[in-house]
Amino acid sequence: MKVTLIGAGNVGYHLGQRLYIKKIKVQQIYSRKLSNAAELAKAIKAKTTNDLSKIDSSAEVYIIAVKDDAIAEVAAQLSKNKQLSKKIIVHTSGSVSGKVLSDYFSNYGVFYPLQTFTKGQHVYFKNIPICVDAKKEKTQKRLLKLGKAISKDVRLISDKERAVLHVAAVVVNNFTNHLFHVGATICAKEGLDFDILKPLIQETAEKLLRKSPYDMQTGPARRGDQQTIKKHTDYLKKFPKYQSLYTLLSESITNTYS
Ligand SMILES: NC(=O)c1ccc[n+]([C@@H]2O[C@H](COP(=O)([O-])OP(=O)(O)OC[C@H]3O[C@@H](n4cnc5c(N)ncnc54)[C@H](OP(=O)(O)O)[C@@H]3O)[C@@H](O)[C@H]2O)c1
Repeated sequence: MKVTLIGAGNVGYHLGQRLYIKKIKVQQIYSRKLSNAAELAKAIKAKTTNDLSKIDSSAEVYIIAVKDDAIAEVAAQLSKNKQLSKKIIVHTSGSVSGKVLSDYFSNYGVFYPLQTFTKGQHVYFKNIPICVDAKKEKTQKRLLKLGKAISKDVRLISDKERAVLHVAAVVVNNFTNHLFHVGATICAKEGLDFDILKPLIQETAEKLLRKSPYDMQTGPARRGDQQTIKKHTDYLKKFPKYQSLYTLLSESITNTYS
């Protein structure tokens, strides 16, 4: 199976490398800025283009990994090439419906790797759940095959399920990461070393692999230690935005256990 990647950002970078390692030929990589695709293309022996009208038709699957808001526009451009009309065209978004591609292609689908990707940051790809969806059964089968070649966890997930998973993913990943940033900012402002909190961060994540988050909750709001909560919110007067965040989350924890 040959694949062409449309987009050489965080997801394109990691998908491209994984496909190459698993000996799936990446035929071509598109990026508006050629230099963004060039480094990856050199590493995985693919061709590059910055012109959607020059996407060649020798691949079976075309993976659109561009920012969510540009998926429809890119699909519209690609569809001008009639040689691509019967190809499998997917996007990699957690929140965008697969139907965004249906105006342009009949064999459309979604190939959403449920992980956080950053260029240059290693990920253990074989553990990454790949959420596959497609209207046609034949397309589904090909996408499941592609998924299984790069991950041991490939699932058929509908548009509706994926949209819900994406909300949960934003909460567990993007929001927690923001809270780490808040913690790091407070430490930095006070001249304290954020690294001292890293074993705590690690243990918090590792506990979750064994137990439910509901059972693992600790802290002043879980215990109902009102005096400690007051001390913390008084201290946070110097960080007013973080003070309201602290209060909101403490209330949510209190309500969960009351
Ligand atoms: N990053 C994640 O953790 C993650 C995880 C799962 C799924 N996703 C999904 O994967 C997709 C790509 O995300 P990403 O994180 O890889 O994004 P990214 O790093 O921001 O890369 C976006 C890519 O989109 C291209 N692009 C932006 N606007 C464009 C336009 N108008 N026309 C054509 N190309 C355009 C950029 O091209 P240039 O290089 O030319 O600027 C770049 O190659 C998104 O749908 C996202 O929701 C992301």
